[in-house]
Amino acid sequence: MAAPATDQFQPGHRIPVHHQDKPGFQYKMPNPKPIDDQLPTDDGGFQPYKPAGKLKGRRAIITGGDSGIGRAVAILYAMEGASSLLVYLPEEEQDAQATKRDVEKHGVKCHLLAIDVRKKENCRKVVDTAIKEMGGVDILVNNAAFQHMLQDISQLTEEQWERTFDTNIHPFYYLSKYCLEHMKRGATIINCSSVNHYIGRGDLLDYTSTKGAIVAFTRALSNQQLKKGIRVNCVCPGPIWTPLIPSTMETKAMEEFHMVPMGRPGQPSEVATCFVFLASPDSSYISGQCLHPNGGVVVNG
Ligand SMILES: NC(=O)c1ccc[n+]([C@@H]2O[C@H](COP(=O)([O-])OP(=O)(O)OC[C@H]3O[C@@H](n4cnc5c(N)ncnc54)[C@H](O)[C@@H]3O)[C@@H](O)[C@H]2O)c1
Repeated sequence: MAAPATDQFQPGHRIPVHHQDKPGFQYKMPNPKPIDDQLPTDDGGFQPYKPAGKLKGRRAIITGGDSGIGRAVAILYAMEGASSLLVYLPEEEQDAQATKRDVEKHGVKCHLLAIDVRKKENCRKVVDTAIKEMGGVDILVNNAAFQHMLQDISQLTEEQWERTFDTNIHPFYYLSKYCLEHMKRGATIINCSSVNHYIGRGDLLDYTSTKGAIVAFTRALSNQQLKKGIRVNCVCPGPIWTPLIPSTMETKAMEEFHMVPMGRPGQPSEVATCFVFLASPDSSYISGQCLHPNGGVVVNG
């Protein structure tokens, strides 16, 4: 099928600034929509992602799998042969159903579970559902997140601080713990952090703090689990065009969204490739590490 014309991979591309309530919905995003399964070519064009059976028969849990980066991960995993259980908030059912349709076009099963991962009993239910529906779990993608921009700590309420930690880091512990009860040698856990942890973004103090915790959690869990043959890694995206942006960022931040060395925002497809690499044997000698699909921002770590 011919790909739609787009300049989204061209330097100078700007996102269409608009605002949504939280949580953001992919179906409400204006054109050009986020790109899930296309990648840029050297001549300035773009091409479909080329799968190679790297995840054949694998079973993945993907939190935040209805939209944005999680949706692109589910689609590329499906192209590579993996089935998945997508976890998302009940309000996001429409996006989840659309993602399920696009995943199942690739001949694998896509299971859906609308549930709030802030509660540990819900995280237990996520893992129980994965075992019941897929018979096991080989890949855990901890990807769900909450953020809300504020300029000063005086505006940051205790409720927001706690909500951000309850969403962005506590479920990483619960889901990893419960999945590890079932995971076998060769399984992988992949956590989603952010470039903001490295640059110390002041207008996302609580979010940035959780993203730092995710990197530390990744390193420590890797050191702990490698003896069982389970690798744990992290992906730290830069500015990526997803529903998180119009639902959480102020206009000025959105206008500056392309301001990275590559001069353009990233697309979910360009982050999802990192999740494929880290889930597959291509990364067999890599654990406790971070990949940085961030448009060329040089960071240490
Ligand atoms: N978009 C970016 O520019 C960017 C940059 C750096 C890091 N990230 C990270 O990428 C990840 C995915 O975000 P995205 O940009 O694709 O946005 P997104 O809005 O598409 O995805 C976030 C998802 O988190 C899920 N979620 C939030 N709270 C939840 C809860 N309590 N229970 C269950 N699910 C919940 C929702 O399903 C939502 O779809 C996040 O970890 C985010 O921090 C994004």
